Amino acid sequence: MIRASQFAAHSIVFVLLFFAPALSSSDFPHERNALIQLRDLLNSTSNLHSNWTGPPCEENHSRWAGIACSNGRVMHLVLQDLHLTGSLPPMLFQNITFLSKLSLQNNSLSGPLPNLSGLLHIQFVFLSRNHFSGSIPFSYVQLEKLTVLELQENNLQGLIPPFDQPTLITFNVSHNQLQGEIPDTPVLQRFSKTSYDNNPSLCGRPLRVQCPGSPPPVPSRAPPSPAPAGKHSFKLWPVALIAAAAAVLPLLVMFCFLLYVRRKKYHKEARTKTQKPAGTYITLTLAHLIHPKNIVIVDLRIELTDYFLLM
Ligand SMILES: *[C@@H]1O[C@H](CO)[C@@H](O)[C@H](O)[C@H]1NC(C)=O
Ligand SMILES: *[C@@H]1O[C@H](CO)[C@@H](O)[C@H](O)[C@H]1NC(C)=O
Ligand SMILES: *[C@@H]1O[C@H](CO)[C@@H](O)[C@H](O)[C@H]1NC(C)=O
Ligand SMILES: *[C@@H]1O[C@H](CO)[C@@H](O)[C@H](O)[C@H]1NC(C)=O
Ligand SMILES: *[C@@H]1O[C@H](CO)[C@@H](O)[C@H](O)[C@H]1NC(C)=O
Repeated sequence: MIRASQFAAHSIVFVLLFFAPALSSSDFPHERNALIQLRDLLNSTSNLHSNWTGPPCEENHSRWAGIACSNGRVMHLVLQDLHLTGSLPPMLFQNITFLSKLSLQNNSLSGPLPNLSGLLHIQFVFLSRNHFSGSIPFSYVQLEKLTVLELQENNLQGLIPPFDQPTLITFNVSHNQLQGEIPDTPVLQRFSKTSYDNNPSLCGRPLRVQCPGSPPPVPSRAPPSPAPAGKHSFKLWPVALIAAAAAVLPLLVMFCFLLYVRRKKYHKEARTKTQKPAGTYITLTLAHLIHPKNIVIVDLRIELTDYFLLM
């Protein structure tokens, strides 16, 4: 009987020990599930499976590579230089409520940037040196504690959202395919040229590249308005006319000389012949290509009949 009760007591202890980690790992199941999803989705040279098991956090400590915790919550996710490939599910990090640092820099991640909406504690975002594409989410403007945003060396397109968080001290979007004008916010105007360099279609004061007079391109493809094109070709007209005049002037001089010689000759002939000579046409055509998009052809045609020559 004693043995049986001892066995029962041991069983209870065993059961408690066995379930203790399981209970703690389900304290914040959404956080753990998001990380497990990330572990299983991405390929890497480093085997995340070797220690991304059990609970991600033990109070202020983590056994998981690249994870840092505070009070049992995931605070940092740092997986850099690991040749990670694949794309991130856009909503993945929204479940890691207290995330303050996200670094996935220097990997080979593709697809859109993650949606960080609702991550009120996020301060450091390092997603540079990857293959991320699409545009910078407009919602990043609402991350009130954002301190560092590094997105350089990706394939990002579209406009830069109007970041204006006073907390933002490091910002780098260089080496992408961003377009249009750098928004005129005090925060964005403060960063240096190197934060914006190597975006062939980007313009604005920090880059010392003046934007075209027309409003910057909008990401959604709006129907092309004929007004700017018309304005553009209108500006080209004076140039076209000057070029044409310059090209034609020597020809006109030559022509006048020819006219004078021929006129003399016809006056002579008219005096001797009664029959009028057949009409002759002298045609001068000048075509001038001004711009590949705005072809301006200046067609100067001078037609002369013998009648005119005889006048
Ligand atoms: C986790 O595993 C990786 C190898 O996959 C190892 O380099 C790293 O040191 C481990 N981290 C911890 C905290 O045990
Ligand atoms: C974890 O750190 C916080 C402060 O960052 C502290 O208040 C708390 O007592 C720590 N918890 C443990 C178990 O050490
Ligand atoms: C990027 O990661 C590779 C290894 O994955 C490393 O050799 C290289 O030095 C890293 N580059 C930078 C700029 O950190
Ligand atoms: C990002 O997430 C927020 C909140 O979950 C959602 O309202 C928003 O539509 C998402 N944005 C995109 C571009 O999916
Ligand atoms: C931005 O990133 C580029 C490319 O990595 C680097 O050369 C430049 O110094 C960075 N600028 C700033 C202000 O961080």
